[in-house]
Order: sequence, then C-alpha cells, then structure tokens
Amino acid sequence: MKQQQDPNKAAYTEGISRVDGRLKVTGAAKYSAEYNQGNMAYAVFANSTITKGTIKAIDTKAAERAPGVLKVITYQNAPELPGYQTGKDPSKPPAGGGPLRLFVDNTVKYNGQPVAMVVADSFERATYAASLIKATYAEESFQTDVTKNLDKARRPGGVRTEDYKRGNPDEWKNAEVKFEAEYVVPIEVHNPMELHAIIANWTADDKVEVYAKTQGVKSTQNAIAQAFKLPKENVQVTTKFVGGAFGNALRTWPHETAAVMAAKLVKRPLKLVLTREMQFNSVGYRPHTLQKISIGATKDGKLTGLIHEATGQTSSFEEFTEGTVNMSRFMYACPNVGTIYKVAPTDTNTPTWMRGPGEATGAFALESAIDELAHQLDMDPIELRLRNYAETDPENGKPFSTKFLKEAYEMGADKIGWKNRPSKPGTLKEDGWLVGYGMGSGVFGAHRGSATVKATMQANGTLLLQTAVTDIGVGTGTAMTAIASEAFGIPSERIKFELGDSSLPPSPTQGGSAITATVGSAVHDACLALKEKFQQLIGNGGADQPDYVKVLKDKGLPQLDVTITSSPSSEARKYSSYSYSVHFVQVKVHPATGVTRVTKVVSVADSGKIASPKTARSQIVGGAIGGIGMALMEEGVIDHRYGRYVNADLAGYHVPVHADIPQIDTIFVNKPDFVVDPMGVKGMGEIALIGMSAAVANAIFNATGKRVRELPITPDKLM
Ligand code: MOS
Repeated sequence: MKQQQDPNKAAYTEGISRVDGRLKVTGAAKYSAEYNQGNMAYAVFANSTITKGTIKAIDTKAAERAPGVLKVITYQNAPELPGYQTGKDPSKPPAGGGPLRLFVDNTVKYNGQPVAMVVADSFERATYAASLIKATYAEESFQTDVTKNLDKARRPGGVRTEDYKRGNPDEWKNAEVKFEAEYVVPIEVHNPMELHAIIANWTADDKVEVYAKTQGVKSTQNAIAQAFKLPKENVQVTTKFVGGAFGNALRTWPHETAAVMAAKLVKRPLKLVLTREMQFNSVGYRPHTLQKISIGATKDGKLTGLIHEATGQTSSFEEFTEGTVNMSRFMYACPNVGTIYKVAPTDTNTPTWMRGPGEATGAFALESAIDELAHQLDMDPIELRLRNYAETDPENGKPFSTKFLKEAYEMGADKIGWKNRPSKPGTLKEDGWLVGYGMGSGVFGAHRGSATVKATMQANGTLLLQTAVTDIGVGTGTAMTAIASEAFGIPSERIKFELGDSSLPPSPTQGGSAITATVGSAVHDACLALKEKFQQLIGNGGADQPDYVKVLKDKGLPQLDVTITSSPSSEARKYSSYSYSVHFVQVKVHPATGVTRVTKVVSVADSGKIASPKTARSQIVGGAIGGIGMALMEEGVIDHRYGRYVNADLAGYHVPVHADIPQIDTIFVNKPDFVVDPMGVKGMGEIALIGMSAAVANAIFNATGKRVRELPITPDKLM
C-alpha cells in the first residue's frame, strides 16, 4: 500500500491528549460511588439462593436488630412505586414481558435475584445484617442452559429480527461447493472495572439527586421520573466519569430504582454499590448463542447461497434481542440469502447489549465460516472475500456512503506480513510452536442521532460546550474538544466540554458507536453558529478569527452563546452507512499444551475521518483486546444443576492481562464520510471488537489445522 505517511505513526503522535487524562490518573476524577454525602446510609442486598420459585417466609428480625440497621426492605413491606402501576395488579409486568421489578411479589426468577435490601449506617454493618436474612422457599424446577431449552425457541418481536429472504436461500444446497457448520458463543459478562453504583439523595419530597453509573443521564432521569411519577426536571442525574460499561449501563436496572426508593424510606442520602457477583447476575450479559451457517459457492469462489440461523438466550420474563444474523444480509454479494433469528428463554436474568452486540456473535460465525469455505476451496481467505465484495448494499440496493474495506484488507495484510501465512495449515513451526495467521472482518451501522449542544464564548476567551452526554471511558470529551477546535478555529486548550449532567441540553445515551457522529455534529454546528453570531455582532468585514475577549468587552457582553440541535439529514437515508474493521493476527500454539499466544495484532478501521487519533487508537486497542478475550478466555459458567454462576469474580472469569497481549498495531483508513455527518466521522467502538474472535479462531486453524467453533478456544479444545 502506497501511503504518504505511516498511518500508524500518525495515530500515535497526532491529535490532542485525553482532556481528562490527568484527572483520571491522579484519582481526581469522581466516579458515581464517590459522591459521598453527609449522614449517608448504605444499602446491601440479600440475594436468592434458589433459581426459581417463591419465597415462603423471610425472617428479617435478626437483621433489623443488628447494629446500625435503619431499614430492611422485602416484598412484604416495600411501598408500591406509582409508576410501576400498570393496571389492577401492580406486580405484573406489562404484557409481552418486561423488566424485573424488585420487591413487588414473592417470586424468584433467577439465582442471585435480590430478595431483601438492608439499609444501615455503614457499608460493613449493612453487609453483616444482610447475611442474617433467612428466607425459605418453595422451589420449582428450572433450566438455565439454553441448549436444553431449544424446544422453546421462538421468533421474537423487536427491530430487524424478522426472517429475511433474498432470492432462494436454499440454493446453497445445489452449489458445486457446500459448507455447513454450527458455532457457539457462550455467556460473556461485561465486567468493567467500575462496579455499578448509585447514590440517591432526596432534597425534597418530590425531588431527588442521583449519581449513577449510566451510559445515559437523560435515560436514567426518564426511568426514575417514570417510576416515581415525578416531573423529569425533579430528577437530577450526574455521571461525570464512568469506569467502563461496554453496554451494561445502557438501561436503568431494578437495583437503581430500589436504591432511590430506599433513600426515600430512610430519609437519608443512600449509596448502593453492587458486588462483583451481582455484576454477573443482575446487570445483563452477552447471551449464550447457537448459530448455523450454510454456504454454497462455485469452484472459483462465488457465493451462490447463504443461510445464517441463530438462537440466542433471553430470560423467562423479558425478551432481549440483538442483530446476530444481520451482517450476513449485506456483508457479501450473494444472490440468495436467508437469515432466521430466534430466542429461547432461560431462568436467568435478562441479557443485554455487550460491545458489538449481536454482530460480535454473528461475525464469529460468518467470518469463521468464510475462512472454512476458503480452506475448502483452497483459496486465500482475503481473495474469497474480494470475489464476493459488495459494491452496493445487497440488502436494500442502496449505495454505501463510503466503504473502504478493500483498502483495509490491503493495509492490514501488508502490515502483518500476510504473505508469510502458510497456505497449508499446521505446517509452520518456530521454536517448537505452531505458527498461524488469521483475519476476520467486522461491521457495524454508522449511526447518527439527534443531539443539542450549547456553545458559549466566555469573557475569558474560553469556549464552553455543554450537553448531557456521558463518556463511558472512550474519550468523548477529547473527541468533542478536537472537533470544536477545528470547527471554531481555536486551540483545544481554550475549549471546555462539559458533560454528564441531566440538566444540560439533551444528548442520547452513549452506545451503538453513535456518539462521535451524533454529539460531534451538534458541537460542529454549534461552533459554526456561534462564529456566525460573532460575525453578525462585529458587522461586515470582521476578521475570520476575531479577538473574542475584546469583542465581548467592546460590546459590553458578559458572554455570547448559541444552543443548536443537530439531526441527520434526509439525504443520509438514500445511503447505507457502515463502519468496517479488519483484524489480522498471528498466533503461536503449543502442540503439547494447547496454549495459544497471540503474537501479532493489526487492526484496521474504516471509520471515516479520525476526529481524535490518540483516543481512537485506544478505542481500537481496547476492542481488539476484548475480542482476544472473547476468542480465548471469556465465559460466564453457570452450574446448571444449581442455576448459579461458578466463576462470578475476576479470578474465575478470565480476561486478557498485559502478558497476554502483544504490541497492537492500529491502522485507520481515515477517509471522511460526509453523508453520515459534517465531520466525516463514522463510529468505531463496536467494530474494534467485532470480527476479532474469528480472526483468532482462523489463525489457530491456520497454525494447527484444528477448527474450534465453540468459544472460548481454551487449551483443552486444542488437545
Ligand atoms: Mo455499547 S454495547 O453500545 O455500550
């Protein structure tokens, strides 16, 4: 690839540093559990030890008598929340399933479900008192293993989950070369470093301040306002920093509503921090999903038919869906395509979106299957992908706004040294280790929503930008500062981006890789509007970069501001917009122990123009590591005899550590997409992970000749 400059080098050296980096590394950044209040109460849950049934009796006396205890809350004494009333029986969720509601009745729906909440004057006293709660249950039979509940699989409701057909999907059966296989992705748990935490402080009978770990302060505000039937503005939500979330803070969970209720009951500010175990059983997970891919192709590698079927896990009481099979509809040019998506219930808590939701699971299957087909055809897997390259969106016939996947293949192949890949698996050895190369692609919608930003030029010359977005650690403040610096034409040091406060102008929840495009557009538009306002103030012939401090002073203004709402153009709907990634890895597998070492990683992203090179690189590196964890380590293990996690901690739930990760090279195609937004950026949070697990699985096959279709690829599976 002929480049004017080494794109890697640019990623390291260009762009501003994390605007909140100093706050984070010095401990000055305040996370939700750190907003301590005077006279604070602490809540701790007692959790169900059975998986399914009803509480026959619950003895709270000893807990109530324990030192420092202020209140013990169970279904027997919990007040009805006004917003929970959905008709005659307030304990019944809306028809068609709904979120769990704590303390509304005596039913237990999953192991670890809170059955009581103890509030005390210290965390330790609350923890001790919670251990004194004694519940007896009427147990019912249960099933937590989705593979045993496939007879209950059903087609769900939800967006883009219906069966899809293009041409005759069964055509694959008539092909010259046929391939069919099943793939399994187990339960994976987000496990951000920061535990879920909420502090609730009622400042009046109908007013509450909340500090909560959330990906969206406005959505948390809405959820709490709804549950307590309060005007939205009476619920103040502050989330200045989030220590990782990966999707598990996208919704308001029942423990948060319970904490707000408990604070009201004890008339004190109240803090609740979940245990690591509850991170496993109470705030969602990537669902255990079974997939089947069937492909037909001509001998020279033209796809003639493709079917992608998936069954994902949901809970018994609520339907969770994700776009597991959707990538197969448009990733490759193929005239005959079918997708089928089902969910099967288990007696667990409800799954939720986890980084690259749906697509990460789907891409493991599709990108493994394409690699398997390439092997069957005796063809290079990149060559096979190029032969089926979709130049327009095969699902809807629309042109892609931008698609530089070909360039991404080329750049990554070049960088990793793809030419060194042995064409025959299991033939390259180095120092007693088998060496292999693999690649896998990722794709995710380049979404953009609507956001409002207030831009204020202050008397001291600082440009203040305000919106209610949160930053889950990805560097939103930094990217917004970079966008504003370019749009307004002043150095980043003179820009302050304020976020994480529900009283600021609205922004959507941070998720789905859409925030840089969404909020960035509003920042961009607000900057241009404010510049324009200054020009009008100065009159014709004003300098492009006036001395803002002087202008304000001359005009006797304390400040000048605009508030701008920015939404996608209707023009954008004429196009299909996606971000793409291609992950390349080199692995070494030890033939005697089955240990896999990832020895080289090159991740290439076609995510439009890069707004903030340093934080963008960090995003790709983090996602790549997440993908390696998915490939080799991550698995939430439930002992299905008891319905309980056996590895609900960071000792038993393995994620990569530094020693597992080599130097990761990130490459950005860095070509703008002005259909998506005025900066030309496309999202990258999800594509950083999507496709990586297949790349690792494909590399392991190339190294060993062993194909593992069930994640994680632990050493035992290679023996
Ligand atoms: Mo992400 S799963 O949109 O937090």
